[in-house]
Amino acid sequence: MSTAPGKKLRVGILGCGGIANAHAKALLQIPEYEIAAYCDVYRASAERFKNEYGKGHGEVFEDYHAMFEKMDLDVVAICLPPFAHADEVDVAAKHGVHIMIEKPIALDVEAARRMVDAVAKAKVKSQVGFMMRFQDGIERLKELLAAGRGPAVQYVGRYYCNSLHSPWWRMLDKSGGQMVEQIIHQFDLCRYLLGTPEQVFAYTGNVGHQDVENYTVEDVSGVVAKFKGGAVGVLTGTNCAIPGKWLAPWTFVARGLTAELNGGATTITHTDRAVPYTEEIRSEKNVIHAEHLDLLRAIREDGETRTPMSEGLESLRLVLGARASGESGMPVNL
Ligand SMILES: NC(=O)c1ccc[n+]([C@@H]2O[C@H](COP(=O)([O-])OP(=O)(O)OC[C@H]3O[C@@H](n4cnc5c(N)ncnc54)[C@H](O)[C@@H]3O)[C@@H](O)[C@H]2O)c1
Repeated sequence: MSTAPGKKLRVGILGCGGIANAHAKALLQIPEYEIAAYCDVYRASAERFKNEYGKGHGEVFEDYHAMFEKMDLDVVAICLPPFAHADEVDVAAKHGVHIMIEKPIALDVEAARRMVDAVAKAKVKSQVGFMMRFQDGIERLKELLAAGRGPAVQYVGRYYCNSLHSPWWRMLDKSGGQMVEQIIHQFDLCRYLLGTPEQVFAYTGNVGHQDVENYTVEDVSGVVAKFKGGAVGVLTGTNCAIPGKWLAPWTFVARGLTAELNGGATTITHTDRAVPYTEEIRSEKNVIHAEHLDLLRAIREDGETRTPMSEGLESLRLVLGARASGESGMPVNL
């Protein structure tokens, strides 16, 4: 770990696929960082990243054990598909490497708990890629709730897309399903705003993709979750919506305010006064850049990130509860 003042922190990218492009671009905008290593089981993918984002500089690896062994990294951005998580968090933590990790952090609670234990034991910082927490509208809501507005009453989140994605995405044992791999962003925001979930119930099914070979994940889901104190979350998703669009609007209601994200704008209507007024928040913020900056701040200040590994575990626990309910037809106590 090379944290001498003025020295750039050395970053490795593990998994040089789709979302890693967004991480690489965000990392390049942080002057305190240099991307020192690229790792992918397909060497050509890591080489492409090295050429595109490193202008030919940086080391390339096919095996992350070798990368952590040789590179003296400070930070790793883990962009592996859900099925590929193995011991990479454990190995990174043992080398004192701080961790940015994409969601879902694992496909089962036991594996996720081991990751939480590994970062706690090694005292490294971690940030799970629930970047919607960095939306300006969500930050404003958290500010209002912290200032005494509330209690939170309801969160309604939707996730609509229409894409076959990659082959692994369509397979339940590889991705965990649309809720676990994708709608988990909405489950996480729901937790972030409503608190501790107590019970969840779901209907799930494959209605529009039965003729697609090896499509074993759900393409429609409707979930209701009850939170401590009585707040209710409602989460719906489908992969049968508009091709080429990934839409994740939400509505949040607390005593004293009603907020909504639709398109690029969040509106917050303040209802705690005789004449309600509506505040509009428009934002072009790069939320992946923001989550990296937050991790850097936590490293520098020896503080906590907004979304440490334990949050990845808790949101996974909620979404796996929803999946189990969808399979059994029974509510699941959490
Ligand atoms: N935050 C977001 O909005 C967002 C968006 C897309 C994807 N994601 C998440 O990011 C993760 C990756 O998704 P993706 O779409 O980039 O997947 P992808 O398939 O495009 O890329 C994954 C890369 O990891 C590599 N890989 C697989 N196993 C490996 C291993 N053991 N060692 C090294 N490399 C390995 C693959 O070869 C591939 O290049 C998923 O968990 C997904 O849910 C998040």
